[in-house]
Amino acid sequence: MMEKNNFWAFNPLFEPQSVAVVGASYNPEKIGHKIFKNIISGGFKGKVIPVNPKGGNLLGHKVFPSILQVNKPVDVAIISIPANFVFQATEECGQAKVKFLIVISSGFSEIGNKKEEEKLIAICKKYQMRLLGPNVFGMYSAKTRLNATFSKTKINSGNLAVISQSGALAIAMIAKTQAEGLGLSHLISLGNEADIETNEILEYLKYDTQTKSILIYLEGIKNGLKLFRLINKTSIKKPIIIIKAGKTTIGARAASSHTGALAVEDRVFNDLVVQAGALRVETIRQAFSCCRLLLSAPKTKGNNCLIITNGGGFGVLACDAAEKYGLKLYNQKDLLYKFFQKKIVKFGSFSNPIDLSGQANKDNYLQAIKISLQNNLGDSLLCLGCETAKLSAREFSFIVKKFKNYQKKPIVFCFLGEPLNQKLRVYDEIYNSVEALAFFHAYSQKIKRQENNFQPKVNLEQIKNLINNAQKNNRFHLSFQETEYFAANISLKTPKSFLVKTLKEALKAAKKIGYPIVLKAISNQIIHKTEFGAVITNIYNSQDLKLGFTKINLNCRQNAPQAKIEGILVCQTINKGINLIIGAKNHEIFGPVVMVGIGGIYVEVFKDISFRSYPLSYKEILRMIKETKAYPLLLGNRNLPKKDIKTLVSLIATIGEIVLNIPEIKEIEINPLMVFDEGEGVTALDIRVIIENKLDKN
Ligand code: ACO
Repeated sequence: MMEKNNFWAFNPLFEPQSVAVVGASYNPEKIGHKIFKNIISGGFKGKVIPVNPKGGNLLGHKVFPSILQVNKPVDVAIISIPANFVFQATEECGQAKVKFLIVISSGFSEIGNKKEEEKLIAICKKYQMRLLGPNVFGMYSAKTRLNATFSKTKINSGNLAVISQSGALAIAMIAKTQAEGLGLSHLISLGNEADIETNEILEYLKYDTQTKSILIYLEGIKNGLKLFRLINKTSIKKPIIIIKAGKTTIGARAASSHTGALAVEDRVFNDLVVQAGALRVETIRQAFSCCRLLLSAPKTKGNNCLIITNGGGFGVLACDAAEKYGLKLYNQKDLLYKFFQKKIVKFGSFSNPIDLSGQANKDNYLQAIKISLQNNLGDSLLCLGCETAKLSAREFSFIVKKFKNYQKKPIVFCFLGEPLNQKLRVYDEIYNSVEALAFFHAYSQKIKRQENNFQPKVNLEQIKNLINNAQKNNRFHLSFQETEYFAANISLKTPKSFLVKTLKEALKAAKKIGYPIVLKAISNQIIHKTEFGAVITNIYNSQDLKLGFTKINLNCRQNAPQAKIEGILVCQTINKGINLIIGAKNHEIFGPVVMVGIGGIYVEVFKDISFRSYPLSYKEILRMIKETKAYPLLLGNRNLPKKDIKTLVSLIATIGEIVLNIPEIKEIEINPLMVFDEGEGVTALDIRVIIENKLDKN
């Protein structure tokens, strides 16, 4: 209900009755003039009011020297004057009771002028006026035919909404949508997002009836958890495509100086938006490839695609692309044989891809499509055409036209040869067409999923006590003893161990445990033990132990002279199982997040980690594990037994539940976590619980 209220709150911005342009210039080259002209020529349904101290008449409209002289309600005022004059103009808009302000002017936080931006926000707040920008390119809203941008190109009305943190990209998107034959419901440039944020616009678009699909260009994120939840809810009804720049360190730096927004770890962002049901693409071309399909095709019922081609090589490329993008191929060989074997020349192929061969003409192709549709072969069809002497571009266009509006399953056409009419929306690149179809399948499956969250049983009170105690002692992590208690509390096994002070005690402990053993220095000041040489492995006998004991003490004295060593842990060696890392974190942008990947010293080398926002269903945790390269090992490759995936899933949910319910915990990391054969559980070799230190907040 709350969200729907937001929809109504934004109504005056997207369906205004009156719009003022402050800085409507007489000079046709100026931005203020172009915006004013676009509003008029775009056929805006409401009233448009030019404001310029010169007064007079501009393009047949009476010009007001000040907005204060308008004396009529103004829903939206667009300001296009130099930054230093914007404050006075904003004050006047506030006094004139303008509801929404769009500030085109640059010169605020994007160039480091944060104080100026704060001043602007303060004026808007004083008058309860919402602010889009500053540093924006404007906006377009199809419902009232409002083109309040300085675009050169006319905007076509349609069902795609574009939200962009970059103005230049938003402009480029207009031309691109034209070229692709797509129409827009909205185009919103967000600029510095000083007030109105991406999330609010997305909330509005979720309920907007004209918008069928949403394309978002992002550089930085302010409230990641809210964005995640919104995408999760919106994507069920409307597919969302995201281009997020700033993937690399250099890109992220460039992005934060561009809009002043915060860069986020790309891997976390990526996994979470995909979990929420969005498609993350890298290029504008990919984005539009997907939009083409998303706006027109019916949802798929199942997950298997049938490929029809007149070129064997084209089919092979499509198979490679299918593997890359996770598009499953229809494999009911008996049915394909039954329906196609008499219809295909002997040098063709009636397995998937159906290869009609270069011999095929228009009628053969049409017949193949009809057979697959009549017999329901595949949940989608990918029809690949190569221009040959037997099949021309014109003939392929004829085939496309015949099935363009088929509504029972998606049919995607890709043609290699003379360019076809854009309006037919035929792909000319195989990987683009397969990627779009793969996403479409994944999207159709995702919206059908109804999964309950997995709820592990955890005694949170005891863990809260541990955390409170550590915080009282001004510590930012749990001590060794507390960590052991923590593990016991969640029934997580740790290796047999004894904390000792002397070599004599160490020898005694090793005897009890049995060689080989591991030595670990325990200190509240040493968290990353390996970096300090505070772990020594492969101790096979008492001689090794004597040397190791001396070495570990020396390492600590040399590498961490300030550290107070509580003792040396003599620890059982665990040398079986699959070595993983798991973690849970109260992420500063995305809230509770869990992760899994290949562990131990390989974490940094392979960077094979998958993330998810918590809470999660059992199946989604499984999907997260499946994404890692560790999964085949867990399944038991080369005839090895399957590992205890069930216990692993349950442990991931447990630590997720803990960070979800105890916000004072910054992070739990278990690395290495050894996962044993099915039914034998897991053992944590190292556990770190990092706590929000009370001093952090000051
Ligand atoms: N109220 C109303 N009109 C006023 C006021 C006022 N308080 N003050 C001045 N004006 C009039 C001016 O007289 C002028 O009209 P005129 O040409 O008829 O005399 C008009 O407003 C414009 O003022 P100028 O001083 O000429 O400003 P100019 O148009 O050169 O620049 C602009 C203003 C475009 C906002 C500029 O300062 C700016 O910020 N440019 C960058 C915009 C931008 O790129 N935004 C991000 C878009 S995203 C992207 O990357 C593409």
